Amino acid sequence: MTPPGVARFIASLFPPANTRTCRLLDAGAGVGGLSAAFLDRCMAGELDFASLSVDAYEFDEALLDGLRQTLAGYAARLPLSARVLPGDFVEQAVSALGLWGGPRYSHAILNPPYKKVQSQSRHRLLLRQAGIETSNLYSAFVALALALIEDGGQLVAIIPRSFCNGPYFRPFRDFLLERAAIRHLHLFAARDKAFREDGVLQENLILRLERGGAQGPVTVSTSTDDSFADYVEHLHPFEHIVLPGDPERFIHIPTSPEAPAHEALPGLSHTLAELGLEVSTGPVVDFRLRDWLRDQPGADTVPLLYPGHFRAGRLVWPLADSRKPNAIVQHDATAKWLYPAGCYCVTRRLSSKEEKHRIVAGVVDPALLPGVSALGFENHLNVFHQGRQGLPELLARGLATFLNSDIADAQFRRFNGHTQVNATDLRQMRYPCRALLVELGNWAKERGDQALAEVEAKLEALLA
Ligand SMILES: C[S@@+](CC[C@H](N)C(=O)[O-])C[C@H]1O[C@@H](n2cnc3c(N)ncnc32)[C@H](O)[C@@H]1O
Repeated sequence: MTPPGVARFIASLFPPANTRTCRLLDAGAGVGGLSAAFLDRCMAGELDFASLSVDAYEFDEALLDGLRQTLAGYAARLPLSARVLPGDFVEQAVSALGLWGGPRYSHAILNPPYKKVQSQSRHRLLLRQAGIETSNLYSAFVALALALIEDGGQLVAIIPRSFCNGPYFRPFRDFLLERAAIRHLHLFAARDKAFREDGVLQENLILRLERGGAQGPVTVSTSTDDSFADYVEHLHPFEHIVLPGDPERFIHIPTSPEAPAHEALPGLSHTLAELGLEVSTGPVVDFRLRDWLRDQPGADTVPLLYPGHFRAGRLVWPLADSRKPNAIVQHDATAKWLYPAGCYCVTRRLSSKEEKHRIVAGVVDPALLPGVSALGFENHLNVFHQGRQGLPELLARGLATFLNSDIADAQFRRFNGHTQVNATDLRQMRYPCRALLVELGNWAKERGDQALAEVEAKLEALLA
């Protein structure tokens, strides 16, 4: 259930009424905490409607009495007609859209359930009928609510951040951006690094959408927690939220008023494609290839690299005491999973919240793997390559040095709120040009361990 302080904040985001009649949708209403926060604003005269109705959809029968009671308490004091609609919101919304063929609500407030929607499930098929392609109930609820509100209608929801960049949420982002303007995004983000960002709230964001609105600047606000004691907000041009020309339409959330790093640093403007580089997920999924994996290297094997084989960015292989295999048999049957020997930059696909940076990069140095003709990269690594071939050594070193920097981390956190670093995310990033990466790689090689302490200053000088 939404904590009361968060519910009040969510309700506070609705702008003053531009209609005399309010028809509020609360989907997955629980015991009605969000509707109550909205109706409290009506009682206080902050939202002024001549007539009010609430449709509260709730699946869990155990919550229905509480929900009825909450709404009945307001019906006695406001010109309110409230309906509790038991059962599945997805089913009811899809059939409502079919029957009415159009919008009915002026406002929607929601904290939807989080649950995967399996590809062959009834929900998935129902959603498809409404033109909604999505793999989680939370995005399904937002999409349906958006479909059910009228032009100019306002929707405020608290939902996980994962839709902002996940490749599976691309159709949902399209659905949303085609129908609505993003007006406000709120993050529970610690600006002071002394606060660890490990609460449930940090996984979520609050967004306000205006159906059919012309997209303009977006208010982005932050607070460390639900006391909102250190609340701040800034207005950002939409081009800083969804980058022009980005086919994935990632939603970036700047937490400071400064321009994004790649705008502030003119040298940081190149896409991977412009560098002639690609990044792919490590193709070796170990449990599928179990018969071909070996604990230690042998005459018929080549190295199989896991994240554990990189310590402070350096390759350590083979590991004597690893629980993971060190090698994969080189055979016709495994050839398609292997890369030719060479120098590669890799990053871990998962980082932990305790780590300073989300991106943790390392270099595969072929000098440490003499006599090796091919390499296996396990699925928990991302591999930067050039047409499935290795990179010039200094380029790989420069790339890893850049990816391990604060500048790259800040850029990454604008659009990725979780600890997964997927190849799609790395394709989104902007990079220094090849020549600068090579220069950086050369510098890092010469400076050795010293480079870590000096890299930010070096990068700023190179990119300015
Ligand atoms: C995260 S809770 C939020 C409850 C309430 N809106 C609040 O903010 O306190 C999500 C609610 O959605 C309900 N729910 C889950 N699946 C549903 C469905 N298919 N249709 C309607 N409600 C559903 C759950 O029972 C739960 O009460």
